[in-house]
Amino acid sequence: MATVDLTLPHHRYPIHISPGLLSTLGNSVRDTAPHDRAALIIDDKITNTHGNTALNSLKAAGYNPLVTTMTAGEDHKNLKTVEALYHKLLDERLERKSPVVALGGGIVGDTGGFVAASYLRGVPFIQCPTTLLAMVDASVGGKVGVNMPQGKNLIGAFHQPVLVVIDTDTLKTLPKRDFICGLAECVKHGVIRDPELFDWIDANIQPILDQDSNALVELVERNVRIKAAVVMEDEKEAGVRAHLNFGHTFAHAIEAGTEYGRYLHGEAVSLGMIAAARLAATSGRCDTTVVDRLISLLEKTGLPTKANDLPATDKLMTIMQSDKKVADGRVRLVLPDALGAVSIVNDTPNDAVVKAWDSLRG
Ligand code: GLY
Repeated sequence: MATVDLTLPHHRYPIHISPGLLSTLGNSVRDTAPHDRAALIIDDKITNTHGNTALNSLKAAGYNPLVTTMTAGEDHKNLKTVEALYHKLLDERLERKSPVVALGGGIVGDTGGFVAASYLRGVPFIQCPTTLLAMVDASVGGKVGVNMPQGKNLIGAFHQPVLVVIDTDTLKTLPKRDFICGLAECVKHGVIRDPELFDWIDANIQPILDQDSNALVELVERNVRIKAAVVMEDEKEAGVRAHLNFGHTFAHAIEAGTEYGRYLHGEAVSLGMIAAARLAATSGRCDTTVVDRLISLLEKTGLPTKANDLPATDKLMTIMQSDKKVADGRVRLVLPDALGAVSIVNDTPNDAVVKAWDSLRG
């Protein structure tokens, strides 16, 4: 088993990574958050598969779990779902020491995490991500929260888990399109911080796409190490944590501009990273080889590298201006300086951003 330790001034937790880990989840939870009760929140698509494995393991370790499911759509990641969960936990009299265990993708982790952050002013939280995207990004670093009608992730908290358990076997039952979407965040980590990871993904793309067990563990471990390092440097996103937004300001505009119905998050991030890299190259920040290498790798993963069905550029520009990452009315973009290094740029001229959008078409 690979373990990455995330250490902060006030808190420390292990992130365990291995095939088959869900069958011993109960023991890991008991070692970290011993109690007789626990709340297990499961993505309803995996209740009868991974959900059962996790539940049996918790019971075998002596827990009497409250089991609840949620549907993993953005339209369920809201305060209504949170309130329903509060009622269940209160009705069952779960206590301050009863851990909340979230089993599923980022939506279940973010929502379950927000419940854990606020129920009785905060209870131990355990992340069991079952999607690649949640394994390498959302489950690590303590960002939890829900959407509002006004926008995504507008209500939330930083509530670090006490334990993250990543069973890489769960990737084998994930729809292929969702798996490939997680690769966008892995490529992102390479671009922002780790050219060796970028090269490693490029060299190992076939075993990764074939979901070879060793390749999956190495992929997840390498990416978790990067995510954990960023969070250890800057837990509350005062600086380098914002580098994780590379490609995301463009991506959020694509997702919002298409009503979250056409592109999955990773697909929008793929297009967003290309737009950001082109913008960096045309404004002389980085060499065009960065763009070429990025597109070449994204093509190998199967992620989209161009799109003919994007909304009009002026609509995308308007959405971008209203992104919550806008500071003092200026769009903040994360742009590459080279493979493995990025900067936060506040003064990009609008016409350069327009050109970057237009370069994605056809
Ligand atoms: N997913 C971005 C972050 O954790 O900061």
